[in-house]
Amino acid sequence: MGGRLDGQVAIITGAGQGIGLAYAERFLDEGARVMVADVNEDRGNAAVEALGGRGEIAFVRTDISDPASADACVAATVERFGTLDVLINNAAIYHDIDHTDASLEYLQKITAVNQHGTWLMGRAAAPVMVAKGRGRIVNQASGAAYSYSGFPTMDFHGLGNYSYPITKWGIVGLTKFMAAQLGQYGITVNCIAPGITMTEATVKTVPEEFLSIMTSATALKSRLEPEDLAGAAVFFASDDARFCTGQTLVIDGGLAMPA
Ligand SMILES: NC(=O)c1ccc[n+]([C@@H]2O[C@H](COP(=O)([O-])OP(=O)(O)OC[C@H]3O[C@@H](n4cnc5c(N)ncnc54)[C@H](O)[C@@H]3O)[C@@H](O)[C@H]2O)c1
Repeated sequence: MGGRLDGQVAIITGAGQGIGLAYAERFLDEGARVMVADVNEDRGNAAVEALGGRGEIAFVRTDISDPASADACVAATVERFGTLDVLINNAAIYHDIDHTDASLEYLQKITAVNQHGTWLMGRAAAPVMVAKGRGRIVNQASGAAYSYSGFPTMDFHGLGNYSYPITKWGIVGLTKFMAAQLGQYGITVNCIAPGITMTEATVKTVPEEFLSIMTSATALKSRLEPEDLAGAAVFFASDDARFCTGQTLVIDGGLAMPA
């Protein structure tokens, strides 16, 4: 039996570590060929080395917030693999996030990567998919987009930190506009909104006390691992999701339950 993504070519942004790396691993296991697009060269090369035995994988250094770099990423992918079927827009400022900076400059910086970068990569990828009459784009929001009121016992969701959630809420909206525009060309655009996921970045940026409070507030009462998200990315990239577009799937163990 073949994989669910046999022969598909996928760009996965931010696949140098964490959730993106888990997506890359699962996509290779499902038969996809993967381009790791990460701004961090060491992490990108390490991902290719770690996963090279599972299938065809390559790395192109990409800054998703730079229009020329986003375009070059797509061009390099087409040159290396001959086409492009799937774009996983996973990269964001997360592991080096500053929860305390409430300046306009910081909001602009985080928006440039998380939101504009998602838009730029979609803009770069769309022409290849339009020409094929088929494509899959999967954006990455966050459960943080749904935590408007925060948690009164902690200052973690204080004034300084809501720049990140609003970029992620913007991605939920962007997903709908992209889906509406690109559907006529056979391109679906969906979104995954993970709850707090146990990546290196989370361990670094989220206080353990907050993690415990969040975990006990979920229905499942357990912590989410990057591998728990990969099946949803495969589904959105596959033909099983042919008629599904503009949707955001919150995977957080039962916390936000927005729909
Ligand atoms: N870990 C969580 O708890 C969690 C929860 C909800 C949503 N998310 C989202 O999931 C995604 C991955 O999370 P993670 O924990 O693996 O994060 P991470 O910080 O470990 O990984 C992000 C990757 O993106 C890369 N990156 C950053 N800026 C970039 C840019 N300008 N261009 C290209 N690559 C860039 C980084 O080098 C890194 O490899 C992010 O979009 C994050 O916001 C994470």
